[in-house]
Amino acid sequence: MYRSGDTNNATKARPEKSSGTTSNFILNRSFQFLVVALSVAAFFLVRGPLGWQSNSSYVLCSPEGTQKIYTVDNANSRVQCILINDAVIIHTGSLAQVLQQWQNSSTRSKLTFKYYNAPPVRYIQPGAIVVPGLSDSHAHILEYGATLQLPLEGTKTVNETVARVRDYILSNADINSDKSKFVLGGGWDHTVWPSGAWPTAADLESDPIIRGRPVVLQSKDCHALWLSQTALESSFPFPDKVDGGLIVRDDFGNPTGMLLDNAQDLVRQPKLLEDDLLKRFNSAIQKAIEYGLTSIHDAGLDPTSLNFFEQEARRRTLPIRIYGMSYFDENGEYWGNTTTPLIATGDGRLTARSVKIFADGALRTGGAALYEPYADNPTTNGLMRLDTEVLFKYIPLFLRDGWQVNVHAIGDRANGLVVDAFQASLNGANVTALRPRLEHAQLMTKADMHRLGKLGGKAVIASVQPTHAISDMLFAEDRLGPERVKNLYAFRTLIESGARIALGSDAPVEDLNPLAGFYAAITRLSRGGESPHGADGWYVFWPACRMTIDPAYASFTETFLGSLEVGKRADFVVFSQDIMTAPVNRILATKVLATAVDGKLVYGAI
Ligand SMILES: *[C@@H]1O[C@H](CO)[C@@H](O)[C@H](O)[C@H]1NC(C)=O
Ligand SMILES: *[C@@H]1O[C@H](CO)[C@@H](O)[C@H](O)[C@H]1NC(C)=O
Ligand SMILES: *[C@@H]1O[C@H](CO)[C@@H](O)[C@H](O)[C@H]1NC(C)=O
Ligand SMILES: *[C@@H]1O[C@H](CO)[C@@H](O)[C@H](O)[C@H]1NC(C)=O
Repeated sequence: MYRSGDTNNATKARPEKSSGTTSNFILNRSFQFLVVALSVAAFFLVRGPLGWQSNSSYVLCSPEGTQKIYTVDNANSRVQCILINDAVIIHTGSLAQVLQQWQNSSTRSKLTFKYYNAPPVRYIQPGAIVVPGLSDSHAHILEYGATLQLPLEGTKTVNETVARVRDYILSNADINSDKSKFVLGGGWDHTVWPSGAWPTAADLESDPIIRGRPVVLQSKDCHALWLSQTALESSFPFPDKVDGGLIVRDDFGNPTGMLLDNAQDLVRQPKLLEDDLLKRFNSAIQKAIEYGLTSIHDAGLDPTSLNFFEQEARRRTLPIRIYGMSYFDENGEYWGNTTTPLIATGDGRLTARSVKIFADGALRTGGAALYEPYADNPTTNGLMRLDTEVLFKYIPLFLRDGWQVNVHAIGDRANGLVVDAFQASLNGANVTALRPRLEHAQLMTKADMHRLGKLGGKAVIASVQPTHAISDMLFAEDRLGPERVKNLYAFRTLIESGARIALGSDAPVEDLNPLAGFYAAITRLSRGGESPHGADGWYVFWPACRMTIDPAYASFTETFLGSLEVGKRADFVVFSQDIMTAPVNRILATKVLATAVDGKLVYGAI
């Protein structure tokens, strides 16, 4: 549980000076020395080298005469200062106002005035702004961390990708010296390579350094795995067919080294070691705080990752908040009433109270389930990854047992079926207490968008990823045709129909940087300022002001996160420039100067 409010704690008395004898004094001094030495040691042991701030009360201000703290309250107010005490915001306003309020609320300091000290004031630099800590409503922390070990993003050819794998092997002695060790990487995207074809095991085998090693490489959209021959063979035998998945085969029926959607589960690889997980976690979290993220909704925990997060949360204070969705395997046992949701364990930083169900695949790989065939491949409508009955059976059970239900749905048919299942499950229920989520909600018919909005006022959430829109804009119209594409990423229609939207990145599928999502959402332009509709952007919409409060709502934390208001936790970010007013082509040049969680800096300096 969270420590409650603590709003009247501003009066913590300062310790009185010791007035003992000399020997007492020396004893005290050496004792104090010991305490200080131990604290310093503990500080470095527990906090690591990041140097978290240790003052419990301070005022955070923009320079005199400016109001550069965006509170994201209902009125969208800006203020000059917020006063933070023990991780909680207790006053907001001008510097004079917050100091006056501090003094007024410090009844004890009035009685014993000599102990009254104004809290230190920290000013952000001119031009900078403060916004509530950013939240990524849909990302995959350890998978993202994995791609940071052997990143394959941005390669322009198969050969360049293969060369990166080779260089990684050569530069990691433990892997290079042990041919049986799995080489894991991710982020490749064949749709931008000249051939546009799926890569094959043979491509990997053509390199003498790679040949004979088990290699498993995840695609950028996480819906395909590219395997070396050794990794393939260690996973044989394969079934002829996989429900909701595909084993890509050559003319002779032999697997080529590409497994799509559910077929990815066929890969047998050694269990990840604690050390691998820690490496992935640390690199992902380091990036997150550098980007100003104070909270990530992890969109697919399995027992290994959940155990790992729990263990980390017990062992130390997590640098940021993690909100987990546990993956439900529809072929496995129902666990909603045998597992207890985790709520704010580990100093309030870890929650895992959602279930994630996959309805279909992805648009890029042609796995999204559509009502009508793909425009560029009329032989297929894509695929549902599960039997529709599963949705109608398990959604009400999970809701009954206290879980938030978050369903991955990309194609219009998948989204329509999930809305059907939500509708059937929510009949007469308190939707505000349940807050089901559509994860992605990429392509929806107008009728389904309206139905979604009517399911419970603003209680149902569409968790969307604006960067997908600008990544997909180049091929989406080919795949969907000129009419259907208008319902793709139609965030404005979703909002207008009454649904609430929460922004995420889907990292590692896209860049984790929340500013990339912000830029994509408000411009619908590529990083170079282009779109299929020219420099005015591709079906623009403008959500910016609710960017932090809606993800908080989507994770049941809006009463203490998501805005910088009195009584809320002091999670905030300092940006080098005002992203609300900067010319859009300058937004991506914004720097994160500092990131704070519970009032303590986890990154940067003020
Ligand atoms: C705490 O505040 C004092 C001023 O009251 C300041 O001198 C000191 O540097 C601050 N410590 C940290 C860790 O910020
Ligand atoms: C890619 O690598 C293969 C094998 O090393 C080579 O035969 C081929 O010419 C290369 N292709 C390009 C475009 O460089
Ligand atoms: C859990 O729920 C299922 C489905 O309603 C039910 O069959 C099962 O008996 C329940 N198990 C427990 C331990 O309550
Ligand atoms: C519905 O749930 C919300 C949130 O838990 C609660 O505040 C509200 O009182 C509930 N409404 C009804 C009618 O029970």
